[in-house]
Amino acid sequence: MAESITITDNRTGESLEIPFQNGGIAASDWSKLLPGVWFYDPGFVSTAACESAITYLDGEAGILRYRGYPIEQLAEKSTFLEVAYLLLNSELPTPEQYQVWQHDITHHTFIHENVRKRFLDGFHYDAHPMGMLVSAVAALSTFYSDAKDIFDIESRNKQIVRLIAKMPTLAAAAHRFSVGMPFVYPDNSLEFASNFLSMMWKTAEPRFDANPALARALDILFILHADHEQNCSTTAMRVVGSSHADPYSATAAAAAALYGPRHGGANEAVIRMLTEIGSIDNVESFVASIKAGHGRLQGFGHRVYKSYDPRAKIIKKTADEVFEITGKNPLLDIALKLEEIALSDEYFISRKLYPNVDFYSGLIYQAMGFPLEMFPVLFAIPRTAGWLAHWQEMLDQDSKIARPRQLYIGAPPRDYVGMSDR
Ligand code: CMC
Repeated sequence: MAESITITDNRTGESLEIPFQNGGIAASDWSKLLPGVWFYDPGFVSTAACESAITYLDGEAGILRYRGYPIEQLAEKSTFLEVAYLLLNSELPTPEQYQVWQHDITHHTFIHENVRKRFLDGFHYDAHPMGMLVSAVAALSTFYSDAKDIFDIESRNKQIVRLIAKMPTLAAAAHRFSVGMPFVYPDNSLEFASNFLSMMWKTAEPRFDANPALARALDILFILHADHEQNCSTTAMRVVGSSHADPYSATAAAAAALYGPRHGGANEAVIRMLTEIGSIDNVESFVASIKAGHGRLQGFGHRVYKSYDPRAKIIKKTADEVFEITGKNPLLDIALKLEEIALSDEYFISRKLYPNVDFYSGLIYQAMGFPLEMFPVLFAIPRTAGWLAHWQEMLDQDSKIARPRQLYIGAPPRDYVGMSDR
């Protein structure tokens, strides 16, 4: 069987045979036969924008792997910092490599005092922490002028470490500001997740020791959110990075993409939806209203997964472990009922709509005491590792600047009419 396809331009009768390449067809080859004819694909639903060796995702089978390792094994046995190393370096670290990596991340958690005192303190009192995070990450580019040396590997690695390390510090600082609490400095004796929890919750005690089971649950959530191949925010990272902008500016763009309710804002929307439903007695009528076209079931459906999101399965289990410590989130029963009804309803079955990663993650975050506004921020912290892995891969591939074509549907040529004649 020939590993190729043949296309024919019926206007001219000309044909072209194009080989399959890693399961795809090079659009530049099509263009040889069809110069000036663009492939119309809004939302990039049928377009592979790059080759990538980072994450494998099979949406039909519900499979997710980072660098070949199943997400289930990583969530059970690994740590977020180890996974971040894996995403960025292709391989799991040796004990010596891990020690250096952990040391580097731990010793870059502090932020410049001006970022906190002048920049973050300048926000309006009710600023959304995600808006603060997006702006603060962009502002960091002005503190590290060496960040522009993106092809200097030493400088590039330094920015990667800085970004992964400072994200929890900025995230917690944004939260503390929004509730009027004093900033808590990082504690370098703590692990990544525990350190973040300390910066979030510490009050007057000399040292904040998070419940180890809650810190581990958060670390698992970080692992699950670390990467997801060419999603909206990663695409933003690659697009902005393709112009050779510095990594802080590109990461700020990625975080801005994550802010939207169709992406990283979905877990916040899930809690708002469950709160609005209010009781399991209202679930059936709520589902009926969704089917009638009144909005969407938040935390359901995915562009790529057409079966149960493997991350949602792990999160559901983690939720039970968290609720044993924090007490059950009262919205859980509504969520379970909603899932039960939706999964047996023809509307959702025929459209292959299943719970995604965000359906249960918000319930955990809420039970752990995080305010709703922090949910997208909690997503951005670990996804920074994935964004940077893609940014680095894109630079190493010497990829072209992202610049799609369009199909023009506007007015034909016409002459300017002076204002008095309109
Ligand atoms: N509730 C009800 N109907 C839905 C939903 C939903 N959550 N999602 C899709 N549909 C319907 C949609 O109305 C359409 O029906 P029809 O064919 O009759 O017009 C069909 O399913 C296909 O929908 P689509 O909009 O073409 O699908 P998409 O791949 O463009 O959208 C999505 C994917 C995630 C944006 C969408 O499923 C959605 O809005 N879900 C709710 C928000 C959400 O949970 N987002 C988090 C995604 S996972 C984490 C992340 O990536 O950040």
